[in-house]
Amino acid sequence: MLSPPRRWIRDQCPSAVTSCVRRGVCSRRHSLWILLILLVVCIAIQMFVARQARNDKLTGLPHLRLTVNKPHLFSTAQNEWEIVHSESSQAVKTDLSRNLTFALPLNKHSQLFYPFFFASHFVEGFNSRSVREFHIMCNHMRFTKSEVAKVMPEDTFYFSILRHPVAMMESIFIYYKSIPAFHKTHSLDSFLDSSWRNYNSSVKNNHYAHNILAFDFGFDNNVAADTEDLEERASMAIAAIERDFHLILISEYFDESMILLKHALCWSLEDVVSFKLNGRSEQTRHPLLPNTAEKIKRWNALDWRIYLHFNTTFWHKMDSLVGQEQMKREVSQLRELQAKLANSCLKDGGAVDPSQIKDAGLKPFQYGAAVIQGYNLNPHIDRQTKIKCQRLITPELQYTDRLYTQQFPELAAKHRQETRMVAPQRQRSDRTGMMGMAWAREAHHRQIIRSKFSNLRNQKASTSAMLTHTEDNNKTSML
Ligand SMILES: *[C@@H]1O[C@H](CO)[C@@H](O)[C@H](O)[C@H]1NC(C)=O
Ligand SMILES: *[C@@H]1O[C@H](CO)[C@@H](O)[C@H](O)[C@H]1NC(C)=O
Ligand SMILES: *[C@@H]1O[C@H](CO)[C@@H](O)[C@H](O)[C@H]1NC(C)=O
Ligand SMILES: *[C@@H]1O[C@H](CO)[C@@H](O)[C@H](O)[C@H]1NC(C)=O
Repeated sequence: MLSPPRRWIRDQCPSAVTSCVRRGVCSRRHSLWILLILLVVCIAIQMFVARQARNDKLTGLPHLRLTVNKPHLFSTAQNEWEIVHSESSQAVKTDLSRNLTFALPLNKHSQLFYPFFFASHFVEGFNSRSVREFHIMCNHMRFTKSEVAKVMPEDTFYFSILRHPVAMMESIFIYYKSIPAFHKTHSLDSFLDSSWRNYNSSVKNNHYAHNILAFDFGFDNNVAADTEDLEERASMAIAAIERDFHLILISEYFDESMILLKHALCWSLEDVVSFKLNGRSEQTRHPLLPNTAEKIKRWNALDWRIYLHFNTTFWHKMDSLVGQEQMKREVSQLRELQAKLANSCLKDGGAVDPSQIKDAGLKPFQYGAAVIQGYNLNPHIDRQTKIKCQRLITPELQYTDRLYTQQFPELAAKHRQETRMVAPQRQRSDRTGMMGMAWAREAHHRQIIRSKFSNLRNQKASTSAMLTHTEDNNKTSML
């Protein structure tokens, strides 16, 4: 079996049981940079990790604490996903005032120019050098280690979370029903029964339909189950992921994943508590026929192998870093904490359909045939609690928008002005900016990346690098 680079984890938390106690020690020794890349595999998961320095009153030394503030899911299939955010004792604003910077997409784009291979100049402030250092990167991307490494510091912690390929395919089929591969088929089964006839890998957007997990990690996704070198290609992909990532989590074991993450990073339970965001309403879920799952595993044979491998290593890591008993104890503590938070934060005690969400700032972006749920805030809470709760339930687009505005106030103002010129009508009915964002996201789905290219040119950004990049990746290009 291949052995992953666990250096970071081992050094960081030699004794998992005492991770909270040791947090100060860990942080002082290492610190610094964390990256969350989430790739999702399938998803697009995006997580934010924030670093926040605090005075350690006992020792007088600065002490670093890391927090998952909010994972996000951008687009893709992930919407039935779930992460949610997590919460820290301080507001994001506080984190930002400490100059924690996020590597956000250029021009307020919602993703890091997915599905292109990630390139360092996709990050706002990188080429212009207006940002000295980045601490967190988490918007959806197609992973390219060498480019990410140009942006992020050397001791960045890389992690991702994988979703079961069968559940993912079912979700993608609903959410991305309009892509060419699915367009003509009325059911997932009929797509799978004639997948090679329906699927043309050179048609844009079709990558969503085939081995998207491998695709998002940067590999060639066009691998048939009966390809001679399937096993070899799967091993190579797995080896590359193990080389590049410190930790791979599993979304089917989300709470357990958060516990493992907490131990790997020496965080506290409060740092990883979250509400499920981007959950899909039951009414748009379709139970699969028994042999449909088998067909999906065969069609996505590469993803299936990758998933099985990392499901195994996930549990091995859990055993060595946390232990079964401790894990069970902490999972139930985490659920209690979450129930307590839900009780104080949420008006209806849980997720509701978007039509029932009063505040547009809390309404998640809707796309495809899926109904993406959100939350109403409990009106009877004090201001402090409200801020905390809002951070937990703010949908990804609104949240990223806020981060962008805080980090780049001038660019954000310019952007707002441009949007007003482009879409005056939409903007008029838009008090919270939600429509503007939804529109921007919709635009993304329509692949108006082309106009972004011309924006780049206007800004004298490195267009040539971008074009080279496009040519390099012509197979998966969406232009
Ligand atoms: C954060 O950056 C701003 C300007 O870039 C600077 O004025 C401020 O002092 C910095 N704050 C901290 C805590 O380093
Ligand atoms: C796949 O799509 C490409 C580009 O649109 C087209 O040239 C090619 O003929 C298609 N292949 C098949 C088998 O339909
Ligand atoms: C993942 O691992 C767990 C624990 O070993 C196991 O129970 C589960 O069946 C595995 N999932 C898959 C899809 O193999
Ligand atoms: C891009 O297209 C050119 C010419 O069609 C081809 O030679 C090259 O291999 C392609 N690159 C990739 C990465 O598919």
